[in-house]
Amino acid sequence: MSRPGWRQRIEAARLVREATSRRRVRRLVERRRGMRFFVDGRELLNFSSNDYLGLSQHFTVASALQDGAAREGAGATAPHLECGHHAAHQALEREVADWLQVPAALLLGSGYLANLAVLQSLLGEGDACVQDRLNHASLVDGARLAGCKLRRYPHADAEGALRQLRAHTGGMAVLATDGLFGVEGDLAPLRQLAVVARVQGALLYVDDAHGVGVVGPEGRGSVAAAGLDHVAVPLQLVSLGKALGGYGAVLAGDTALVEHLAETARPYVHSTALPPALAHASLVAVRQARSQEWRRERLQGLIATFRALAGTAGLDLLPSDSPIQPVLVGADQAALAMSADLEDAGYWVGVVRSAPGHARLRVSLSALHTPAEVVGLVEAMARARDRAAIAFPSPDPTIPEPA
Ligand SMILES: Cc1ncc(COP(=O)(O)O)c(C=O)c1O
Repeated sequence: MSRPGWRQRIEAARLVREATSRRRVRRLVERRRGMRFFVDGRELLNFSSNDYLGLSQHFTVASALQDGAAREGAGATAPHLECGHHAAHQALEREVADWLQVPAALLLGSGYLANLAVLQSLLGEGDACVQDRLNHASLVDGARLAGCKLRRYPHADAEGALRQLRAHTGGMAVLATDGLFGVEGDLAPLRQLAVVARVQGALLYVDDAHGVGVVGPEGRGSVAAAGLDHVAVPLQLVSLGKALGGYGAVLAGDTALVEHLAETARPYVHSTALPPALAHASLVAVRQARSQEWRRERLQGLIATFRALAGTAGLDLLPSDSPIQPVLVGADQAALAMSADLEDAGYWVGVVRSAPGHARLRVSLSALHTPAEVVGLVEAMARARDRAAIAFPSPDPTIPEPA
């Protein structure tokens, strides 16, 4: 029989990843205290997590988790439509809806699942999902699962979105974009996209996994920051695993949409509900995120400090005002060498390898960092950059930016 064997298949794939410096390794976090992570026997100051507001270890959030577990146990025992829908889930949905000033909300197991759920339950053959080229992978996977046409436009290009929608008539269309982009750190042009969606009769769906808690009035996210409401943006995604420090996600928006999702979205209907104890913890985290403006103010101060110092040190920054601060490096090997060098100096900074020649370090700031720690990071990055420049001379400047 000439069927390819699974061992050869995965070995060949591993060799390709090795040859292209694309191996991925899990680092073992032994324990942590705030942004100090104890990893593989070393203490590192973490600049790679999404705990933007520093809520993941907050004592009131952790206590709510403990209390919830003591009362309700470890799990929900069933999907929401069976017997897994608990009062804690409903209280969290109401709190998020109230915070974002939308009529309805639906709690899901994760942001990834939520994106599969939305696109699978709304779109099918003959429909189209028009997306920013730099959208999160789960939006792309959701469109694939839906079996609709997936059409992408250049990053943050509302005219490109309009062109794609115009080219697709006859079926329903969803225009989907990240609100705050998780790697670039910039905001989608939501006001323009809202006009495009309205003119084209498309549903605008904003995945604001990184924006809620961080930007906008009361931390309500990039939709509120753009001055839009649930009429312009009938559905948005809130991740509970980033600024809110927990796990899970909430879809928030129009009541009819939320009810449709609750009855028809397969990743919702056929999956065990989030543990109620986690919902208790997220409810407390949402209240903290809402009311503690000082966390966002502190974060803004750190962002300004980082950008000013990194600019002076000649690091190649992208135009981001958010806690996600990508630093362009160039060759994958140079970025990996810089990251290893930073680790030797006691800093943990993630590497993002996208198109060849455009590797970057993704610096992620948290309200738990101090200004002195940011100063130390930038100095270490400048030293690491100088060493990498000697070991790996500049990339070919003719390599175009990814579209
Ligand atoms: C923009 C965006 N959407 C969705 C997700 C997935 O969310 P979750 O981690 O809750 O599954 C992520 C995760 O990184 C993300 O960056």
